[in-house]
Parts: sequence; structure tokens; C-alpha cells
Amino acid sequence: MKISTTNAPAAELESEALILAIPEDADKPTPWEAVDAAVGGIVSDALTGRGFEGKRGQTLSLSTPGGRSRELVLVGLGPSAEIDLEVWRRAVAAAATKARQRGNRKIAVPLPEIDGHDAGELAAAATEATILTSYRYREFKAAPAGRVELREVLIAAPVDVTDATERAHKVADATSWARDLVNTPSNEKRPDAFAALAVDMAADAGLNCEVIDDAAARELGLNALLAVGDGSAVGPRLVLLEHRPAGAEGPPTVIVGKGITFDTGGISLKPPQKMADMKSDMAGAAAVYGTMRVLAELDVPRRVVGVTPLAENMPSSAAYRPGDIIRAYDGTTIEVVNTDAEGRVVLADALAYARKHYEPRCMVDLATLTGACVVALGSHAAGLMGTDDELCDALVAAGEATGERLWRLPAWREYDEIVDSEVANVRNSAGRAAGVVTAGMFLKRFVGDTPWAHLDIAGTAFLDKATPYQPKGGTGFGVRLLTRWLTA
Ligand code: BES
Ligand code: MN
Ligand code: ZN
Repeated sequence: MKISTTNAPAAELESEALILAIPEDADKPTPWEAVDAAVGGIVSDALTGRGFEGKRGQTLSLSTPGGRSRELVLVGLGPSAEIDLEVWRRAVAAAATKARQRGNRKIAVPLPEIDGHDAGELAAAATEATILTSYRYREFKAAPAGRVELREVLIAAPVDVTDATERAHKVADATSWARDLVNTPSNEKRPDAFAALAVDMAADAGLNCEVIDDAAARELGLNALLAVGDGSAVGPRLVLLEHRPAGAEGPPTVIVGKGITFDTGGISLKPPQKMADMKSDMAGAAAVYGTMRVLAELDVPRRVVGVTPLAENMPSSAAYRPGDIIRAYDGTTIEVVNTDAEGRVVLADALAYARKHYEPRCMVDLATLTGACVVALGSHAAGLMGTDDELCDALVAAGEATGERLWRLPAWREYDEIVDSEVANVRNSAGRAAGVVTAGMFLKRFVGDTPWAHLDIAGTAFLDKATPYQPKGGTGFGVRLLTRWLTA
């Protein structure tokens, strides 16, 4: 996608479709008076009785023969008092989609005024929205014949928004790449192949990358990771990515992502109904890869390490079993109650490894960890738990700014005993109560006193229903959030 910027006023923009965002309760006939005048008043006409009220997400296209654009696409912002960045993002996405469906390849987006947000933020949001709404996974099937794709977006603002736009473009492209990884079928991303994708990306982006394979993992004693990988013919990997810009010394921030390349449940086999969706069980790792790529591309002046444990959770005669007891990397013993609670097991070693090798200032992990999180929050927010209020608050703020929202759950010591085991230090599954918290409390046993936060992205990483800028499938959830948090 080509994205450019201009200072030209809306009425002077030349494009195929001109996007005009309109609040529901605009006090003037239209906030786009100059455009309206230039096209013979058809915008104000539409607002006074042609079925367009400016409701959130509502769109209307108006052709303007002989005008500077082939047509106008009006899009509603809803009630003024409720307009925020996410409303704007979704409106741009809806309008871009409408324009594309009507055969336009080029759109112009003049920025409206939205209280509390500067032009840079609005330009960044518009950039993300157009790129992300246009995303499709096309690796194994070509686009339908005759489908028009959006090619060019011109963003118009009274001030220079080039910087914000260029940054957002990189973030959105990395998000699309993370979506590709999640949408990739699991036969194409077994742990060896998935690690190789990280190696290639790191070489392109200029990140350090180290891959610990199963033989090296055995030497190191990454037994929890190894146990989960035992059932697969392709052994597990631990991929380490490091962004270390000159001058950024001191302890790094570590981001950890669950990378189960396919989750059958193992011997505690999952029912078949939605098992195919478990190709997305590496979405945490994809978010970490995408974020690391952006940090390098944006030259973010901060040392960050990405740690992703990769394994394929399969049933076989070599698979780990319910009842097994594993001695994890840090010596903690884990009773395997359910082999389908594998994410927390691989993360145990990843967190402990990160803590020992990097002595991080803080750690944040992302994982498609529990069905219970989907039950609790659906797809509008990821679950958040953590040991450090400041860290959690910063993550929540980044979530509000990006629309990748988080909702915090408790990690109180009262919950600690849920994961006690009678035969080991900790068990990987407990009763039905507080399933999200149980998983988080398990992880907490492996973070020591390093400030830590955990994001359960089971409901937000992979959608079975599209939203305005997220087609079905992988969302790339976490790339925009983490980038925002690490650059705020
Ligand atoms: N990957 C799943 C969690 C999941 C479920 C993600 C649905 C996305 C959508 C995870 O490994 C898992 O199987 N969790 C179990 C834990 C249980 C056995 C304690 C679950 O949630 O059922
Ligand atoms: Mn599982
Ligand atoms: Zn899983």
C-alpha cells in the first residue's frame, strides 16, 4: 500500500474516492462545508433526509461526476461525545472497504477534528485502519477474479503527519505479517520451520537471533519445553531475538510468546470440532516476532529481548502423559494433570530461562492460554494479570490507545494454592474455577521477583467473525499494543 500525506484542504484533494467522516450530531449541515460547496451541496442534502445520519459505521457513497474525486464516501462517527480513536479507526476501515467494493483503488482521507487527539494520532490510526482492513491471507488461494484492491491512501492534515504515518505503516505491515504467521497452516510452520522464519526476519530487520534446538535444550535442561514437544516428530525450539541499539545498555525488557505450532491437546486429546483453529496457538510468538521486527525498523532506543518457546503438542507413543512429573529448567517440579494445559508448561521454561540469562527489568508474556479467557472476555479484550501495578497500568493504557484492549484479573496470593500439587511443586491444571487465573498463577511460580505481566490472548488472537479492520482468522493482536507500550 502506498500511503502519502498532504497539507491540502479537503476540497482540493484529488483521488478516486474522498472519505468524509461525519458525526451523528454535527451542528452545521456538514463539517465539510468547502467540499459540500464544491459538489453542489450533495453532502448536506444527504444529511438532511437521504438516509444518512452519521451513525457509527454507517456509509453512503455519492458520485460526483466532474469533481476532483470520482465519488465521496460518507462514513458516520456516531455521537460526538463518544468519538475516540477506535471509533475513528473503525470508521476509516468501513469507508475504505466501501470505497474498494465500489471499484476504487485510491482514496483520500482528510482528518476530522476529534477532541483529545492530535493529527499525528489520527493519521496513524487511519493508516493502520486502511492497511489492516485490506489484509487477506492469500498464500494458498488467489484473490477472486475481478477483486479490486486498495493501492493508495492520501492523508490530508493541516500539519505535517509524515512521521506518524510512516511509523504506523511499519507497525501495520508487521501486524499483517504476524497475521500471516497465525494463518499459516500448521504443516507449514512446524517448530523447525517456524524458527527459520524468525531467523530470516531477524536477518532482514537487523536483529540478533539465536535458536536453541532440541539437542541444545536437552543439554540446558529445558525439560518442560522438551516434554511438551516429545509427541512430535519435529522437536521443540527456543528462539531468542534481541534488539540492542547502541547506547541502550542495562537490563533488557523481555517479551515472551507462546509458540505452540499446533495444539491437539496431546494425550488429553481435544474434541475435533474446532481443533483446526489450534493452528493459531503460536499467536503469542507471532506477536513477539512482529514486535521485534518493528522495534528494529523504527530504531527504538531500548534494549528488548523476545523469547519464544516453540513446540507441537501431539499425541504419540513418545508423548508426555497425564501424571508425569517434569523437572523444569529452574528446578521446579511440575505435575502434568492435563497435557492440553501445555502452554503454561513451555512458558515455565521460557520465563525461567529469560530470568536467568537476561536479568530483565521486566517480563511480559503473551499466550493463547485458556478457553476460560474466551468464556470470560470474548474477543473484545485480552486478559491481563501481573505482579506490578505500574507495568499493568502502562499496558492497559497502551491497549486503550491502540484498541487492543486489556482487562485485568487478580494475581492475589490467595489464588496461589490453586496450583499446588500433592506430588510436585506445582500442577498444570486444577478445577473449573478461575481457569484464567489458574494459568496465570502457574506462570507466576516461574518469574521470581522480576516485575511481570501476562496477557491471555486466546479470545483476541484469532477471530471467527470479522470486525471492521480484522478479517476472520489471525489478528496480529499484540504487535500494535507492545509497540505502543515500548515506545510511549
Ligand atoms: N491453546 C489452548 C487454549 C485455547 C482455547 C486458545 C481456545 C484459543 C481458543 C490451551 O493450550 C488449552 O488447551 N487450554 C486448556 C487448559 C485446560 C486443560 C486446563 C483449556 O483452556 O481448555
Ligand atoms: Mn492446549
Ligand atoms: Zn494451547
